Amino acid sequence: MEAFCLFSGQSRLRYTGTMSLLEIRNLTKIYQTQEGLFGSAGRELRAVNQVSLDIHAGETLGLVGESGCGKSTLGRMILRLIEPTSGSVQFDGRDVLSASAGEMRRLRRQMQIIFQDPFASLDPRMRVEEIIAEPLLIHENSLNGASRRSRTLEMLQAVGLDEASLRRYAHEFSGGQRQRIGIARALILRPRLIVCDEPVSALDVSVGAQIVNLLRQLQREFGLTYLFISHSMPVVRYLSDRIAVMRAGEILECGPSGQITTSPAHEYTRTLLAATPEPELWS
Ligand SMILES: Nc1ncnc2c1ncn2[C@@H]1O[C@H](COP(=O)(O)OP(=O)(O)OP(=O)(O)O)[C@@H](O)[C@H]1O
Ligand SMILES: [Mg+2]
Repeated sequence: MEAFCLFSGQSRLRYTGTMSLLEIRNLTKIYQTQEGLFGSAGRELRAVNQVSLDIHAGETLGLVGESGCGKSTLGRMILRLIEPTSGSVQFDGRDVLSASAGEMRRLRRQMQIIFQDPFASLDPRMRVEEIIAEPLLIHENSLNGASRRSRTLEMLQAVGLDEASLRRYAHEFSGGQRQRIGIARALILRPRLIVCDEPVSALDVSVGAQIVNLLRQLQREFGLTYLFISHSMPVVRYLSDRIAVMRAGEILECGPSGQITTSPAHEYTRTLLAATPEPELWS
């Protein structure tokens, strides 16, 4: 923990600077790939290797790197959607990886994820209302129907959709609207940290820009902290306070966005910057 000072004569801590909401230390994931023929040992793939990162309360940390470098594996390990091989994750001072099932349930309320394709794992015959309200049924099952509906409606409006959407089915919506529904579902429990895993990569640039601006607005409105994963340097730069550059399972460098994009320490970061021309929308 950094930047704390003690009130004189009091045992209370006063926060004086940036505080880490999330502390990742030496996080590693080794995948066992399929076994060889005739029982020979399978290969090991070190997808994430000894990664340490802090994410400060209220900031957006951009995580950028080429396809296959381990971004999603890292993002999902934070929420324990993938079990790490080793290392530690602390959320608001609590050890995520040793949390019991009950503790994990409480932690999950505070940490949510937004996917590239928000409905990949959902039934296309679900109505929007059911999709957005489902986390409330699981985590706040004492809520009555009227309260659940008003929370759902409030969130629907926060993401820029109208009330009539509630009764429609997910498959009736465009990609951008689907992402808005995915965001409403992720926010309905009022989490503090959102892992955004390539939320605009499947969208047209202009629709993607609207979603990115919505994420910015929601961050202010709900006091959110983001880990924003993307392979696109311009998008990451537009949204992030700090940027971490990942290559082959490791963080090469991490620093303020301006510094990473104007005077990167690594040749690889320069290559990434050169590889993704800046559309006008992100400049
Ligand atoms: N379940 C798995 N079993 C074995 N290998 C895996 C598994 N999931 C991912 N990998 C491998 O781990 C490496 C990192 O994958 P990961 O999906 O985390 O990368 P990524 O940076 O998110 O890529 P992309 O930009 O394409 O989404 C890749 O080589 C991938 O093939
Ligand atoms: Mg990925």
